[in-house]
Amino acid sequence: MRVWPALPITTERLSLRPLEMKDAPEIVNLISSREMVMYTLMIPFPYSLDDALSFIVNSKRSFMEGTALNLAIVPKDTLTLSGVIGLMGFEPNHNKAKVGYWLAKDLWGKGYVVEGLSALADYAFGPLRLHKLEAHIFEPNHRSKRVLEKAHFRYEGRLRDHYLKDGQYFDALAFSLLSTDLVPK
Ligand SMILES: CC(C)(COP(=O)(O)OP(=O)(O)OC[C@H]1O[C@@H](n2cnc3c(N)ncnc32)[C@H](O)[C@@H]1OP(=O)(O)O)[C@@H](O)C(=O)NCCC(=O)NCCS
Repeated sequence: MRVWPALPITTERLSLRPLEMKDAPEIVNLISSREMVMYTLMIPFPYSLDDALSFIVNSKRSFMEGTALNLAIVPKDTLTLSGVIGLMGFEPNHNKAKVGYWLAKDLWGKGYVVEGLSALADYAFGPLRLHKLEAHIFEPNHRSKRVLEKAHFRYEGRLRDHYLKDGQYFDALAFSLLSTDLVPK
């Protein structure tokens, strides 16, 4: 079993805490729209309570095994789950992992994901001692691209027709952040 140090991760406005089974109905409620999932790889549409329960069970298993860390995004002012952010695809031999995230539609435009992602990067490069974080976005996902840029991720290149979603191929844009990219605060 892996011990994840220093959880929850807290920022000025957010707490990032491990998922719990009771989060399932709120996840279904927030994620059940085509706009939410159109540029995501792993989230099905329509999204059922069973999908959410499986996601949380798998997240709990990978949390114990140390293979992924999915965290609820909980604003301190509402104390309700408002999104999910995580580290996955760990490659321990190379000290790297991938990031992923989504946020409730009514909270877009507040910078919450940039704030959460920056804290998650500090966590990855600090307590977890990773060296590289990777992010792939579907080429048309301009919002997600801006999130990565504002969190200081750098563009690495375009992967042509990299993902097939709903019968359509999408180019992926690859971004990354290195532990050595960040200026110490
Ligand atoms: C991606 C996501 C988390 C971003 O949420 P957010 O933090 O609220 O992002 P914002 O609404 O602040 O938008 C981020 C930036 O994109 C810009 N933006 C929004 N729509 C845009 C568009 N159509 N074209 C270009 N830029 C756009 C915004 O102006 C903002 O930049 P700014 O702060 O410099 O003005 C959210 O849209 C989401 O959950 N999407 C669905 C799931 C998803 O796609 N996850 C990512 C998978 S890789």
